[in-house]
Amino acid sequence: MDQPQTELSETHLATASMSEAFARFLLSRPGYAETEAIDVLRQRDYRRLDDLGHTYLDYTGGSLYGESQVREHMDLLLHGVYGNPHSSNPSSSAATHLAEIARQDVLRHFRASPDEYAVIFTQNASAALKIVAESYPYEHGSRLLLTADNHNSVNGLREFAAAKGADVRYIPLRADMRLDEDTLAAELARGAGSGPSLFAYPAQSNFSGVQHDLGWIARAQAQGFDVLLDAAAFAPTNELRLDLVHPDFVDISFYKMFGYPTGVGCLLARYDALRRLVRPWYAGGTVAFASVMAFQGRGTAHRLFDAPFSFEDGTVDYLALPAVSIGLRHLEGIGVDLIHRRVMLLAGWLLAELKELRHPGGSPRCEIYGPADCTARGATIVFNLLGPDGTPIDYGLVQQAADAQGISMRSGCHCNPGAREIAMHMSPRLLAESFTHQAASSAEFLRSVSDRLDGGLRVSLGIVSNFADVYRLTEFVRRFTM
Ligand SMILES: Cc1ncc(COP(=O)(O)O)c(C=O)c1O
Repeated sequence: MDQPQTELSETHLATASMSEAFARFLLSRPGYAETEAIDVLRQRDYRRLDDLGHTYLDYTGGSLYGESQVREHMDLLLHGVYGNPHSSNPSSSAATHLAEIARQDVLRHFRASPDEYAVIFTQNASAALKIVAESYPYEHGSRLLLTADNHNSVNGLREFAAAKGADVRYIPLRADMRLDEDTLAAELARGAGSGPSLFAYPAQSNFSGVQHDLGWIARAQAQGFDVLLDAAAFAPTNELRLDLVHPDFVDISFYKMFGYPTGVGCLLARYDALRRLVRPWYAGGTVAFASVMAFQGRGTAHRLFDAPFSFEDGTVDYLALPAVSIGLRHLEGIGVDLIHRRVMLLAGWLLAELKELRHPGGSPRCEIYGPADCTARGATIVFNLLGPDGTPIDYGLVQQAADAQGISMRSGCHCNPGAREIAMHMSPRLLAESFTHQAASSAEFLRSVSDRLDGGLRVSLGIVSNFADVYRLTEFVRRFTM
């Protein structure tokens, strides 16, 4: 029988200094002891992490799956016969049934009313965003408001919007990486345009971990905007309750929530808002009826199914959908709130330690971009290491050293160029000028706009993070900057 292990007990605490640090951590953050169920889970279901000596700090890149999720899914596949949905035959009906259960599970998880929200399964969050991007009925007079803190898959919305004549604006970030809320309020107060208008922002920054106020959803809607909430980085460690906030569109990648399966995401969309979308094409699976002979060279000779099916192009990943149900149950079994409390306690400690780490002369060893405390932020931290004279150390070198020590973190701009540009103090003039000539490479391009680094190191905590993970990171930083 598995012996439940807390972190204080065996393998996790290899060194005396770690156990002392852990004891101090527990004293300063007694609430951590209440999250012990996650240590037990890690020992039982994520053993490979410690057996293989991994320090996993890239949960915003992708969460980790528990062994039990994979086993349960394999059992299901090995003991059933599942065919392509969209038919009445028994194997098809079995797959359709599981897909519909997965849809209900997603609604339940986000407390979304089935009368209000549809779940459209996609390949990932980006594919969910692309449905909105290409189908939103922009026209001259429409407005698209984006925040400078957006993943590129949200930034890409501007391409369709601008091509259809919408006015596209960015809400800037302040130096602390939070939204310039005065500008946002002023832009919303100008109201939606004469055409359909959209405001798209992330619930949590995948770059800095900043959480943007969900109160903007209702405020933007009151001004006539539809709201797209990018919840890809938020949902894994925060409860998103669609009975409390009612964004028109929400994109999710399930591997970010529970690691397995990859290749499935969804667009949660209000039926109201979906009715306004205009799909630029149709595909198998989305049409109730289509004719070749009736097509006269233009016009319409097809009828779409109702939502959500009208938005699911081709065959959904039907064998993976039951793994979404399993993953959601896995997450709910632990409790998103428990995970949230734990990762925030760990992140709070890590932020404080990174801030405190000093060179012998007293200068800091780290520069953290964004809030250095736990107010309105998640457990994603972006930073660079500094030499004794304050010069940032090439994050590529740091990454290489971390890789060699089995520490999985990430470096670069994290697909969030707007946040990077603020963090690295890039000049808007130089950035704009750089696009007028063809740089030989992205490295050359970035050197031309900034003499600082062009990105940072990112660590992010998740489902089974523990004290040893964050402690090892601080020890790594200490040694690297010696
Ligand atoms: C905030 C945010 N939005 C969107 C995405 C896109 O997700 P995917 O690559 O799974 O489509 C990511 C991925 O990292 C993200 O962090």
